[in-house]
Amino acid sequence: MPSPILLRVEGLTTVFDVGGRTVPVVRGISFLIRAAETLALVGESGSGKSVTALSLLRLLRPPGRITAGSVHWRARDMASLDDAALQRIRGGEIGLVPQDPATALNPVFTVGDQIVETMLAHKAATPRAVHGRMLELLDTVRIPQPAQRARDYPHQLSGGLRQRVMIALGLAGDPALLIADEPTTGLDAPTQTRIVDLLRDLVERRGLALLIISHDLDVVASCADQVAVMYAGEIVEQGPATPVLDAPAHPYTRGLLASVPGAEPGTALPTIDGVPPAPGVRAPGCAFAPRCPERFDPCERLAPTAWPRALGVTALCHLYDPAAAPPPSAGRPDAKVR
Ligand SMILES: Nc1ncnc2c1ncn2[C@@H]1O[C@H](COP(=O)(O)OP(=O)(O)O)[C@@H](O)[C@H]1O
Ligand code: SF4
Ligand SMILES: [Mg+2]
Repeated sequence: MPSPILLRVEGLTTVFDVGGRTVPVVRGISFLIRAAETLALVGESGSGKSVTALSLLRLLRPPGRITAGSVHWRARDMASLDDAALQRIRGGEIGLVPQDPATALNPVFTVGDQIVETMLAHKAATPRAVHGRMLELLDTVRIPQPAQRARDYPHQLSGGLRQRVMIALGLAGDPALLIADEPTTGLDAPTQTRIVDLLRDLVERRGLALLIISHDLDVVASCADQVAVMYAGEIVEQGPATPVLDAPAHPYTRGLLASVPGAEPGTALPTIDGVPPAPGVRAPGCAFAPRCPERFDPCERLAPTAWPRALGVTALCHLYDPAAAPPPSAGRPDAKVR
């Protein structure tokens, strides 16, 4: 029996109104997150991952706005909730570790006080128990000498410790889902591994659902149950992690996997040539077409639709359109972008 659905996103579309133009940056994306499951949202910088996270929580500020689609949290439509209900969900039922530490950590309060305040705001601890619970939480996120570190201000901590404090703050309201936006970016490789281990451990021990957002497929490969690959505001491939990572269907996913550092030690690291389209600048066909080594006749004319593949994977690509007749060499599950 699959575990219950916590978050259901359907056709979510978010735009920014800039310079008199409406620029879509998230284009009709859909996904589910089930209890105790990890979904990795991956894609190059600028693909719309952080805007997606903010849109889910209705934290997007003007000039950003949601123009279509729905987000249901535990079967409640987020668009129908008042501010008080949204405040209870944010931090209480859904914890956020934002990409930017400046938006999570207040420089003028100690880290202990910030965690205590969040715990009390979400009634995750009684006033009598809160100090002890805060120290326990710092210990849970593997911060050494929690009693001393609790008295530190954010600027006194190393990047790795600060990231652990941000995770602790995300967990302080005892949420069922944690959204961690680029939790390892800017950290050295061993620290990155330790943070991912910590998140994986939290998922296992607390039965937490996790939405982990990263531009680095290597980071998420070890902890994801489900993967959604985002390109230019669209989810181009999604499904269970094993088939997506072992036999990626979409040429963009293949390119991302081929460019993982250290995939084949001693070899040059392939990257995907070219850059994503600027927001709001799109040709009529597939957004990836200008960079795609497998593009064929319909790709530059027609936008692809999402085609089902084996094992619950879908791919937004003409290669899998039975009517589009891709060239014989294209679309092999083992084909790699070079
Ligand atoms: N406040 C804003 N005003 C205008 N455009 C924005 C704003 N915030 C983000 N964008 C645009 O939205 C797109 C997606 O951004 P983002 O979600 O931060 O990407 P990612 O997290 O995948 O790196 C980018 O093209 C970015 O320029
Ligand atoms: S639709 Fe065409 S251009 Fe787009 S990813 Fe698939 S093969 Fe490449
Ligand atoms: Mg981001």
